[in-house]
Amino acid sequence: PTDRRVDDLLRRMTLEEKAGQMTQIRVGKLRGDCQWTNGPLREDCMKAVLVDAKVGSILSGGGDAPITNTPRAWAEMTNAVQKYALDNNRLKIPVLYGADGVHGHNNVLTATMFPHQIGVGATWNPALAEQVGASTAKAMRATGAFWNFAPVSDIARDTRWGRYYETYGEDPVLAGTLAAANVRGQQGAPDGTARLTATAKHFAGYSEPANGHDRVPAHLPVRYLQDTVLPAFQPQFDAGVGTVMINSGAVNGVPVHASKHMLTTQLRDRMGFRGVAVTDWEDIRYLVTRYRVAADYPEAVAMAVNAGVDVAMEPSEAGEFTKGVVDGVRRGAISGKRVDQAVRRVLKLKFDLGLFDKPFVDPAKADAIVNGADRDLARRAAAEGAVLLRNEGVLPLSTGARKLVVTGDTADSVPRQLGGWTVGWQGVPNGSPLPPATTVLQGVRAAAPTADVVSAPTAADAVAQAGDADAVIVVLGEAPAAEGVADTENPALTGEQQALVDAVRGTGKPVVVVLLTGRPLVLGAAADAGALVAGWLPGSEGGHGIADVLFGKVTPSGRLPVSWPKTVGDQPFSYDQLPGPNGGESSSYDPAYPFGHGLSYTTFTTSAPRLKATEVRRDGRVEVTVTAANTGSRAGELVVPVYVHQPVSKVLVPDQRLVGFTKVALAAGEQRAVTVAFDVRRLAVTPGDVDASGSREVATGRYEVVVGGARAGFTVR
Ligand code: IFM
Repeated sequence: PTDRRVDDLLRRMTLEEKAGQMTQIRVGKLRGDCQWTNGPLREDCMKAVLVDAKVGSILSGGGDAPITNTPRAWAEMTNAVQKYALDNNRLKIPVLYGADGVHGHNNVLTATMFPHQIGVGATWNPALAEQVGASTAKAMRATGAFWNFAPVSDIARDTRWGRYYETYGEDPVLAGTLAAANVRGQQGAPDGTARLTATAKHFAGYSEPANGHDRVPAHLPVRYLQDTVLPAFQPQFDAGVGTVMINSGAVNGVPVHASKHMLTTQLRDRMGFRGVAVTDWEDIRYLVTRYRVAADYPEAVAMAVNAGVDVAMEPSEAGEFTKGVVDGVRRGAISGKRVDQAVRRVLKLKFDLGLFDKPFVDPAKADAIVNGADRDLARRAAAEGAVLLRNEGVLPLSTGARKLVVTGDTADSVPRQLGGWTVGWQGVPNGSPLPPATTVLQGVRAAAPTADVVSAPTAADAVAQAGDADAVIVVLGEAPAAEGVADTENPALTGEQQALVDAVRGTGKPVVVVLLTGRPLVLGAAADAGALVAGWLPGSEGGHGIADVLFGKVTPSGRLPVSWPKTVGDQPFSYDQLPGPNGGESSSYDPAYPFGHGLSYTTFTTSAPRLKATEVRRDGRVEVTVTAANTGSRAGELVVPVYVHQPVSKVLVPDQRLVGFTKVALAAGEQRAVTVAFDVRRLAVTPGDVDASGSREVATGRYEVVVGGARAGFTVR
């Protein structure tokens, strides 16, 4: 029935109306001065965008919120836009409103912010990623934002890149599994009415700018692109993600927005994506002004639409893109069929979201749904994502401690622990009220209520206070930022941060360093602290979540979703290095802490892996079972990663590739059999003679499953 309704509309639409459905414009153009200024919606601005240019989608990029940033005000704003559009368009096609809810509905001041994706990556827990997605969707939908530009499926390979924290880590299986779980949470069951449409972004290769700077062209050999970069997206497509956002960068000399190979051949023909492909901000213009692959804007529009762009996000002037499409069709540069294909996808999405039947939300309910929702989940996520990197008998701290000193630039900083995209594009804007959140200082105070918890703003204060303290907690972080601003040539703790750690270590007191950073920074002097905890950007409940781990209320179970570099020269960096002659298989992998590392307060063992079958077909599945045991005296959770080693391979493959994982909760002394199954197709590689067909094959022959260092062989026939 949806297809019939879409066909019926398409038959009745003019070319101008179709081009309008392919356009998304920022809400700033509907209010204030019809550009950037905040203010009430203005009728003449709305007329220019929604009636004259017939635009079908609006967005709030980077927290572009109403003046009064409450859930209710958001709902009233999106309703007002919707009402104006429906009252003034003859076919009554509803507007689809989009925003970046990248760690909760972070556009709203009073919403609960979850850890950024890198912290969820460290949980290795798809069920949790799904719950975070569902909670985000509930909040966004309550405010009328039905399109979420999240999650990120780019893999983290270079700590110089400022958007590293927005990824689920460096491995395509880990990142893809968590992203798909998040999509399921956001969209609900693929067969039902989606609660929201999620976005797989940024397709593809965005996280690999050659010199670490955002949007610098990437050089990705076909084998690496097909075997490592693209597989991180596949699970989301299989889960039915509604939209993809296109990489603003260029891959192998072609801007992805102009690449039919990427946007049609790879994305649709080979990977089976069926939804809407949206540009990133103003990217069609950049084909002219930055990349110089098109002589003028009309040529750029034709290039992008023919490559596979369905919707142009913020093409500067609302009417310019629609005119580009209309003129392109009239002069034969774009086919009417291609336009119909794009518009069909957009309309189908609007039907699937239920917008035609229920275009408005209830502002009276929005505050109750959004404000402070799911704080327990946020606390659990912050604690579960914390990775205990090192512990020389310092942790857990005693809740009965007499005196604790808390110091460091992020010990009591809400903006730093929330990171970029929170309320504002580059983090909480200066002068804005702060979102409700607990800092580590507050978390420590709550966890050790009888202790004298002293906040020491400077190194001198910390040293002076340390004398009679039980321990010193140093919380270090980074300035919050996104897109370009957070790029750095020196992804390391600053000299000042290292000097602080040095100074407090000099007192001889136990020192715990908590790193609230969006990436693994080179540690320098901090490497030798008594205990090191990577807490990432832990969100609104970060203070309590981190304190839960420091005081042992939660046994740490986070595992590194990335490799922790030893030096700033280790870039790009990941565990899946290819073998070479200089010193053996993993010669170029010498991290401070490897991918998957994470300590606990209890101890675990895993048995040798047992396989259900030792001979499998290329299209079969491998089932691996191990017995996991908690051999310590505390309950805890264990991540069980399953790797595959291929003794002989015609093309270079890493020593070990992650193929699956699970997480198991075990009481003290408990043991249990756990099973991980994976598709043999995960072992596919682009064959020796790379050709244009994109074919990937699983080589027949011998393989070994590796769990906790123990192996079991199998043969692919
Ligand atoms: O979704 C984002 C994207 O990740 C970066 N550029 C802007 C978009 C919309 O805000």
